[in-house]
Amino acid sequence: MNKVAFITGANKGIGKEIARQLGAAGQLVLIGARDLARGEAAAKKLVAEGIEARAVQLEVTDPASIRAATARIAAEHGKLDVLVNNAAIIPTGDAGVTEVAAATLRAAYETNVIGLVEVTTALLPLLRKAGAARIVNLSTSLASFTQVGDVASPMSTVRTLGYNSSKAAVNMVTVMLANELRGTGILVNAADPGHCATDMGGEDADRTPAQGAAVAVRLATLGPDGHTGEVHAESGRLPW
Ligand SMILES: NC(=O)c1ccc[n+]([C@@H]2O[C@H](COP(=O)([O-])OP(=O)(O)OC[C@H]3O[C@@H](n4cnc5c(N)ncnc54)[C@H](OP(=O)(O)O)[C@@H]3O)[C@@H](O)[C@H]2O)c1
Repeated sequence: MNKVAFITGANKGIGKEIARQLGAAGQLVLIGARDLARGEAAAKKLVAEGIEARAVQLEVTDPASIRAATARIAAEHGKLDVLVNNAAIIPTGDAGVTEVAAATLRAAYETNVIGLVEVTTALLPLLRKAGAARIVNLSTSLASFTQVGDVASPMSTVRTLGYNSSKAAVNMVTVMLANELRGTGILVNAADPGHCATDMGGEDADRTPAQGAAVAVRLATLGPDGHTGEVHAESGRLPW
């Protein structure tokens, strides 16, 4: 039986490229999309490239949607080999600590942290059934205390508290879940794709979505001796 991978927010951007690359490696890819029609359009394109892809409706902030996606994957596949938590937002109006509105912070945390944790815990029984599942959380250099704290780094100038701090929380989720799952065969890591040209990254970004996807794909396909509880970019392991 093929490996089954579920990528959240895979109807476009880096998520779609992760699906394409995992699919090209022979995995059956489930395209998570909050708008099912957009997910189906993305899946159709991948199928035309010879990839086994299906769309699954998933709004990560909606418990009913998470339950329905989990039930569907259980019924159709009975297990999940790879979960890529890719869906995320930079909330509208995100700003520095002295400027940002509470509602903006809440929006970032609902999607980027709470949604990610809810999706992961709902799918954990299916990930356990796969035996040696891989969980990959999309992170960013903007969540690195080391890089944001270095005044010589361009990361120190980006004033988006909702995004940066919610992704720093994702880093902590990654390391804590890795610890909780040690000895189960499940490896949990975070991927920093670099600045990629997507709707989120903007058209002036220096990397393609395919380049950004590659690090997540590497972490999703780690062998049995692979690392867990780490954040990696193309250049290797990153400091928290
Ligand atoms: N692009 C970069 O330079 C960059 C750099 C570092 C890290 N990252 C990370 O890489 C990941 C992908 O980024 P991207 O640039 O590809 O972003 P993107 O083009 O904006 O795509 C984000 C995806 O997430 C989905 N999404 C957002 N909120 C959701 C929700 N509540 N429920 C379900 N799906 C939701 C979007 O769905 P809709 O299409 O319906 O909006 C879309 O499919 C993110 O985790 C991001 O933080 C990106």
